[in-house]
Amino acid sequence: MKPLYVGLIGQKFMGRAHSNALRQVSRFFELPAEPVMHTVAGRDAEELDRFARNWGWKATTTNWRDLAANPQIDLVDIATPNHVHAEQAIAMLEAGKHVACEKPLAGTLDDARRMRDAARKAKKQKTFVWYNYRRCPALAFAWKLIREKRIGRIYHVRAQYLQSWGGPDTPLLWRFKKGDAGSGAHGDLNAHIVDMARFLTGDEVTEIHGAVSRTFIKERTLPGTKKKGKSTVDDAVLFLASFKGGAVASFEASRLAAPHQNANSIEINGEKGSLRFEFENMNVLSFHDASDGAREGGWRRIMCTSAGNHPYAANWWPDAHVIGYEHGFTNMYADVLRVLGRKKPEIPLPDFADAYETQRVLEAAMIAAKERRAVKLTSVR
Ligand SMILES: NC(=O)c1ccc[n+]([C@@H]2O[C@H](COP(=O)([O-])OP(=O)(O)OC[C@H]3O[C@@H](n4cnc5c(N)ncnc54)[C@H](O)[C@@H]3O)[C@@H](O)[C@H]2O)c1
Repeated sequence: MKPLYVGLIGQKFMGRAHSNALRQVSRFFELPAEPVMHTVAGRDAEELDRFARNWGWKATTTNWRDLAANPQIDLVDIATPNHVHAEQAIAMLEAGKHVACEKPLAGTLDDARRMRDAARKAKKQKTFVWYNYRRCPALAFAWKLIREKRIGRIYHVRAQYLQSWGGPDTPLLWRFKKGDAGSGAHGDLNAHIVDMARFLTGDEVTEIHGAVSRTFIKERTLPGTKKKGKSTVDDAVLFLASFKGGAVASFEASRLAAPHQNANSIEINGEKGSLRFEFENMNVLSFHDASDGAREGGWRRIMCTSAGNHPYAANWWPDAHVIGYEHGFTNMYADVLRVLGRKKPEIPLPDFADAYETQRVLEAAMIAAKERRAVKLTSVR
């Protein structure tokens, strides 16, 4: 197996999730390339050393540009706040690196477009975006069932991503600053469900019919102080949309929907059947087959852990020995390494061009909310 040298930027939540996936991936998957955890970049040198020792990174740096300058590094994994994705990703592409960037692609559509264009220009390199929920086996299986035409023409897409950690006691983290995050629950949570909806249906949003964005908590405590600062992002955003193929859709994201904690869900209703995925019960896919008829019809509860039947299941544990959050990231690294080794991924991976389309939908919804009007996607470029 060829070594593939990886650099990582950011060592907190996603830095941990990605490091864990890198450590595990070649133990569970047979891959064309072996990832080597080369260098991790972050801002706090002391914390960084502890992080590197704990996760097995060989070297550290407090200057992320060192990753671009190092000729040995093949792939750079970006796990930093949204406003630095563009600068970091473009620098890495210009230095000849493959890039796997966290979602949303960027905080603003302008940054996202620059990233898409840089990826287009860098013909030899691949880009990936961490829309990791695609790689929950149940969601990947839903994608396969839709491709097998099991639900037929799609009428409805109903997606929600509900959390509750953003109450008044939560300090003014970067996630509440427009300059750092771009938006609040919208870019954080709607980004995932828009990606999931586009991925599952294989269809594109053509119009946002209306949207509402609300900031309930306008001031928060500055971390480590008693002072208050302004929250400049939404706490919740809801919008209605149409897809090119005719389906109608609703999307809702909130950080104030107690007691939901990570209730990422999507339901699709079609002519021949329906599908429903709920992340908090992520090993299960609900499927309704309309041909069951009125007598026995209803939701089937499919445990998506059967090797050979369900995506990624053969790489993990026996039937119903369930997997969790971290496995989505490991499954994603497996597909990233397959693609870099010129093999096919289990299911399609989002690249910068794909994530740019998700960003256009998010932008259109923000315009719809701000200007209180419908927005055609053709007007958002
Ligand atoms: N895929 C998912 O499900 C998922 C989940 C959570 C977060 N995210 C995304 O991951 C990214 C990071 O989020 P997080 O939750 O890990 O944040 P975090 O605050 O936990 O960690 C951010 C890291 O970036 C570092 N950092 C910040 N600014 C930097 C800079 N200018 N240069 C170098 N390093 C810098 C910080 O020191 C920290 O290590 C965001 O884009 C977020 O939207 C994705």
